[in-house]
Amino acid sequence: MSATDLAGLRVLVSAGPTYEDIDPVRFIGNRSSGKMGFAIACAAARRGADTVLVAGPVSLPSPDAVTRVNVRSAAQMHEAVMAALPADVYIGAAAVADFTPLEMSTSKIKKKPGSDTLTLELVRTADVLADVAVHAQRPRLVVGFAAETDNVEGYARGKLVNKKLDLIAANRVGVAGSGFECDDNALSVFWHDDERALGPAAKTELADQLLDLVLERLAATPGPAPT
Ligand code: CTP
Repeated sequence: MSATDLAGLRVLVSAGPTYEDIDPVRFIGNRSSGKMGFAIACAAARRGADTVLVAGPVSLPSPDAVTRVNVRSAAQMHEAVMAALPADVYIGAAAVADFTPLEMSTSKIKKKPGSDTLTLELVRTADVLADVAVHAQRPRLVVGFAAETDNVEGYARGKLVNKKLDLIAANRVGVAGSGFECDDNALSVFWHDDERALGPAAKTELADQLLDLVLERLAATPGPAPT
């Protein structure tokens, strides 16, 4: 790692959760803090990359020298990420909702007398990462994240292949000291013929280690070399 080893590269990062609105006062969200994605964007900009951060609803401060685009829903994240292409590298660290309400109620949903249940109809969201990976302006390196509670390598390698990624950084969630809402994390990064364990370390340190690996894989990938 050197001070400006990412100069000349445009790095696009997504971070945080998405909120899918049910009605004007309620939404479906998740426990992503956004810290990993923000740490990656911060490190990329510090190392000289032209860095765009598409951020879900988190209250984290914007890293220096990063162009930040705030979004709320999975659909908005999809639109903002596509609008930010082309990029040399896409790192999808956001925890994008997989489902969203079929319809958002424009008025607050009220309890119905005599009814103890409420049924919400949800529909699949578009997969931002998979769509970036098959985009006409596909970044040279497309990096996904996989948060798993079990069978980490199996599920992560499945996503690597199915979403046509170059790298996938997997972490185990639901254990102390790693994953959502933590300052530390440990990642197992997989690519088609190899893998590397990063951490356990602070997310800020892991971000630099992941970017070191991104540079290594870029050097091994056909295309213009970083300047
Ligand atoms: N992802 C995305 N758009 C979605 C869903 C997921 O871009 N609509 C991305 C995430 O940013 C992450 C990767 O896909 O980089 C894996 O997300 P994850 O939630 O672990 O997996 P899913 O594909 O949603 O699969 P599952 O929920 O079945 O584990």
